[in-house]
Amino acid sequence: MTVVQHPLIRHKLAVLRDVETPTKQFKELVDEIAMLITYEVTRDLPLEPVEIDTPLERTTEMMLAGKKLTLVPILRAGLGMVDGVARLIPAARVGHIGLFRDHETLKPVDYYFKIPSDPGARDFIVLDPMLATGGSASAAVSSLKRSGAARVNFVCLVAAPEGVQRMLDDHPDVRVWTAALDRQLNDVGYILPGLGDAGDRLFGTK
Ligand code: PRP
Ligand code: URA
Repeated sequence: MTVVQHPLIRHKLAVLRDVETPTKQFKELVDEIAMLITYEVTRDLPLEPVEIDTPLERTTEMMLAGKKLTLVPILRAGLGMVDGVARLIPAARVGHIGLFRDHETLKPVDYYFKIPSDPGARDFIVLDPMLATGGSASAAVSSLKRSGAARVNFVCLVAAPEGVQRMLDDHPDVRVWTAALDRQLNDVGYILPGLGDAGDRLFGTK
């Protein structure tokens, strides 16, 4: 697990946590933090040399080596991260996994799954702002693997120790990236100090 440390991320996360932050600003912040984390997640993307004509001469430069990247937001809250990440990786495809957490059991209930048809050839970045018990993230990654995905990163904004441990136990091959590792879950599965219900705050429901 990697906590992406950056003063801009810390600052934006503090505003994101604030109960007074309105929906419009909450959305903008989720988008921006997702983009800033992605900068780190993509640090090791392979490059290849290309010939470029500048206005003055021909030169050899480096460009991304055409790696097939796919973003997979977990519905709903993961949708709030897609635009920010896609601003950095505009060629990425976008799959979708629909899951919600049953409020009684805290177990994920799945309702939608659609990804590109060549999963074995792709690198996946699963997006969800919250890693709480880890049930949703683990189920999403299991579904991807069942369909043939082999290389998966998981990106969230706030993680609980319980969720990080669950991912380590279930999917030790999946690297988890987060803007913050919080203290614990409360007795109804919310992250403390957390930021509340990410989906409700993003979409103005409740
Ligand atoms: C939230 C969040 C994660 C999940 C995390 O979604 O966006 O998907 O809970 O909890 P877990 O780690 O304990 O599984 P929620 O179930 O509230 O659905 P929503 O995005 O549709 O609001
Ligand atoms: N889902 C959320 O949106 N927030 C939490 O704190 C835990 C799960």
